[in-house]
Amino acid sequence: MSQKIIVIGANGQLGNCIRKIAPDFHFDFHFDFTDSQTLDITDKSAVEDYFNEFKPDFCINASAYTAVDLAETEKVKAFSVNAEGVAHLAEACADIGATLIHVSTDYVFSGDTNISYSEDDFTAPVGVYGHSKREGEELAMELNPKTIILRTSWLYSEFNKNFVKTMLNLFNIKEELSIVADQYGQPTNANDLAEAIMAIIKSDKKTYGIFHFSNYPETTWFHFAEKIAEFSNSRIKLKPITTEEYPTPAKRPARSTMALDKIETTYGIEPKHWEHSLEDCVTILKAQ
Ligand SMILES: NC(=O)c1ccc[n+]([C@@H]2O[C@H](COP(=O)([O-])OP(=O)(O)OC[C@H]3O[C@@H](n4cnc5c(N)ncnc54)[C@H](OP(=O)(O)O)[C@@H]3O)[C@@H](O)[C@H]2O)c1
Repeated sequence: MSQKIIVIGANGQLGNCIRKIAPDFHFDFHFDFTDSQTLDITDKSAVEDYFNEFKPDFCINASAYTAVDLAETEKVKAFSVNAEGVAHLAEACADIGATLIHVSTDYVFSGDTNISYSEDDFTAPVGVYGHSKREGEELAMELNPKTIILRTSWLYSEFNKNFVKTMLNLFNIKEELSIVADQYGQPTNANDLAEAIMAIIKSDKKTYGIFHFSNYPETTWFHFAEKIAEFSNSRIKLKPITTEEYPTPAKRPARSTMALDKIETTYGIEPKHWEHSLEDCVTILKAQ
């Protein structure tokens, strides 16, 4: 008999990427996709009712409040989705013995070290978004013993709003762009994250806890933009600038590079080089 997977926040980048590959798994899994209109995770009783009716074996939480800058002024909203909403999902999963696959972020780290963060390293978010996501991690782990958290970073895809799509749009209308060159992280194609989640769900033996998943190695926003320009054959002039020269409402970690060996040794998932995954995405976007 096929197992049931509910995908929460299915209209987001990651949600769309899971939707895209779901047909490949239709022999083993029945998917149900919900969005913020059909299931608002901040509504505890709606979550309970939904889980009691659908009784999923796995819940993939692809939903989040992801507006990093706006979160500084919308703290209550950020926490209600990224912390309380996650708690509702974790409790509903625990009640029926379901596994929760929750997605978190490198922004739980302060980013003031030169060593790659491991899953057990001390968290110290520098902004409201990171704080709300960290609280969500803690609640998910506390409320459902069958929780797997994937921390990812610099997510992009052919869907919704993201850095790659913003760059491609700006390349069409600008001659020169200034891009921050002193923040380091790992760009991640959300399609690769969707594949990793499905590989975990399909694995025979589950190890619960926190895992890091991204593409590798680290780079800067400036070099990321350079490669987007190269893969899209753009002649845009890119100018490296410092974080100080590009002030934003929310502070970002300067270097939030995550170590990726735990997911490889535990689940055999090998992260891809970010340049290859980026080229795939730019090719899709250029063909649209
Ligand atoms: N984007 C990044 O660079 C990045 C980096 C690191 C980690 N992450 C994490 O990766 C995960 C996926 O991110 P993403 O970029 O795919 O996000 P996204 O494109 O912003 O999508 C998030 C989705 O969550 C939905 N949502 C918001 N509030 C909800 C609620 N109360 N109930 C149900 N759904 C709700 C949104 O629906 P509406 O549009 O209708 O509000 C949206 O479709 C998130 O956990 C995020 O924190 C993202």
